[in-house]
Amino acid sequence: MSRRNFLKNLSLSTGGLLLSPAMRAAQARNPLQIPDRYDGTMVDSRVTYSLRPQEGLTEFIPGLKTPTLGINRSYLGPTLVLKRGDDVELNVQNALPEKTTLHWHGLHVPAKADGGPAQIIPPGGSWSPRFRIDQAAGTFWYHSHLLHKTGEQVYHGLAGMIILEDESTDRHSLPRDYGVDDIPLIVQDRRFNSDGSFDYIRSHRDVMTGLFGDRILVNGTLDAVFRPKTTRVRFRLLNAANARTFTFAFDDGRTFSQVATDGGLIEKPIACKSLILAPSERAEIVVEFNAKEPCTLINLPLPAGSQFATRGMMARMHSGNDERFDLLRIEPAATLQHSPEIPTVLAKIPRLNPSDAVTTRKLTLSMAMGMGLGRAGSGGGNFFINGQAMDMEVVNYRVRKDTVEIWEITNDSMMMHPFHIHHSQFQILDRNGKPPKADEKGLKDTVKIGPGETVRFIMRFETYADPNTAYMYHCHILEHEDNGMMGQFTVE
Ligand code: C2O
Ligand code: CU
Ligand code: CU
Repeated sequence: MSRRNFLKNLSLSTGGLLLSPAMRAAQARNPLQIPDRYDGTMVDSRVTYSLRPQEGLTEFIPGLKTPTLGINRSYLGPTLVLKRGDDVELNVQNALPEKTTLHWHGLHVPAKADGGPAQIIPPGGSWSPRFRIDQAAGTFWYHSHLLHKTGEQVYHGLAGMIILEDESTDRHSLPRDYGVDDIPLIVQDRRFNSDGSFDYIRSHRDVMTGLFGDRILVNGTLDAVFRPKTTRVRFRLLNAANARTFTFAFDDGRTFSQVATDGGLIEKPIACKSLILAPSERAEIVVEFNAKEPCTLINLPLPAGSQFATRGMMARMHSGNDERFDLLRIEPAATLQHSPEIPTVLAKIPRLNPSDAVTTRKLTLSMAMGMGLGRAGSGGGNFFINGQAMDMEVVNYRVRKDTVEIWEITNDSMMMHPFHIHHSQFQILDRNGKPPKADEKGLKDTVKIGPGETVRFIMRFETYADPNTAYMYHCHILEHEDNGMMGQFTVE
């Protein structure tokens, strides 16, 4: 965060007393909250979950109550644990005074069960999608997808993590004791007003760049500290910010192992020192700790010359993703329980073959520059795909069931857009004509597309057909999605 905002915020959260950043570092920290694990209950051979979107008050800043939204609690929701092969029913009871939807991001489900903008749940209403879980283990999430209001509802808290388990989960030696050595990290940035309320869109700039906050919440915890009890910990990183991209690293430069991308385990662990996740991207990492040796999970500025950096006039408008700040303080216990080595082989991912593709669809992302930007909620079309803003009445593509397609996405704007598609996980074929690097070889449902870049991915559209209900594809900067950068397709 810029030093000015940082200090301004400090003075807000400490009752007007201005502290230096060094003094702030010595401030009391809050134990990292771990969302409840929710395994569901068996009802008539279906694993059933009850989810209640509701309003609440949450005390992020001591003494101040923030009006928030949550699912079964005041902010965020429980971690849903789903098992491959299970038939599930998700009963959503909308206790909000407004409409909402709940979308299962990254899950392969029928269009009617997807929780997109067409599956509206009115205030007091309910919605009970059913489907069978049939995909590889991984980290997913669920969140509101209300047309023009996704950004606002997610910002206030309508989101949660999903952990999917399969037959491999018990077999390999990755840490998997939820809340002990298998830790969800739902990372978000937020802006607070002096009364403690969240400050959502204030200016055109907040829509144009997407909303950037100057305080970090991890699982809804401000200034969070986590205390490992084992020598290895798996972190499930979820960038649940509306717009900010995080470059995860440790303050001491330590190496860690990436073991999963959006759609599940990769073939073998990747040793890395930093990892970039745009909004809605996930990664699972395993980190080693020594007793009594603290460190901090931090955000680094995007690397110099990064293809994802904002360009031109937009770069001057907003500092964007170029700040260094703390995300999570880590203080290992005095003695740690020994964890097994992580496996050297994790999964086998069969590659889809480009020669099997029946078509290549070309999509170009663009945004209108300058004045006249829409407000969130106005439905103003300032963000486009192939020159068109999202229209609920228009189905942009009709895909034949059981076919393989290539989608070629070009970014014709000055900033990066994380492109997300519903229905399935895809495989990246190339980025600007070059094969993907190791960290983009796994299953993905969201891909960063930098200014001027073209990315091609390949995907199979199987299992479900419904000519009357569409799936979405969109930019996952929620203010862009809400203002037009979204489209629809059916599988039939
Ligand atoms: Cu994370 Cu269309 O969704
Ligand atoms: Cu999605
Ligand atoms: Cu975008």
